[in-house]
Amino acid sequence: MNLSAIANEILSCTRCPLYQERQRAVPGEGSPHARIMLIGEAPGAQEDIQGRPFVGRSGKILDNALRNAGLKREELFITSVVKCRPPNNRLPRKVEVETCVEDHLQRQIRVIQPAIICILGGVSAKALLGETNLSSIRGHLIQRDHLYFPTYHPAAAGRNPAWRMIFESDLVNLRSLIDAI
Ligand code: URA
Repeated sequence: MNLSAIANEILSCTRCPLYQERQRAVPGEGSPHARIMLIGEAPGAQEDIQGRPFVGRSGKILDNALRNAGLKREELFITSVVKCRPPNNRLPRKVEVETCVEDHLQRQIRVIQPAIICILGGVSAKALLGETNLSSIRGHLIQRDHLYFPTYHPAAAGRNPAWRMIFESDLVNLRSLIDAI
């Protein structure tokens, strides 16, 4: 199974209730050979309209931080835990997260085999590491079934100037870590 076959399944997925209100599913995008995968929470309004990850307000914050770290979007693979927008941007529910991670995200990870998975925010940290306290692991490399590097979600960084500085410096550190592997 390759990435575009997985993306096609995501685009027509009806395995959880989120499909009912989506305009477009957002499989994610980037390089099939990416050494870094960035995994956010769920598409927002703009992503739902355009079918692309991180193209709204949090996408601008992410793009700035990537540019500042010398990381190029096209060399990464950017996606989210849940591929369809939860109504009114509510948090994705446990069953939605579990279904989407098992059926789609884990397969994307298996195909890409990234050297580092950068976790963006608490929902992603909970889904991938079972960790409910993001601040206790943020900025640390964590070896599990893969190598994980958790940081803030760009939307959270956008709401808090101190977090934004930390988020930007985390991505600079991520760049150094990937260069050293
Ligand atoms: N937030 C996410 O977690 N993912 C997106 O694609 C957009 C916003």
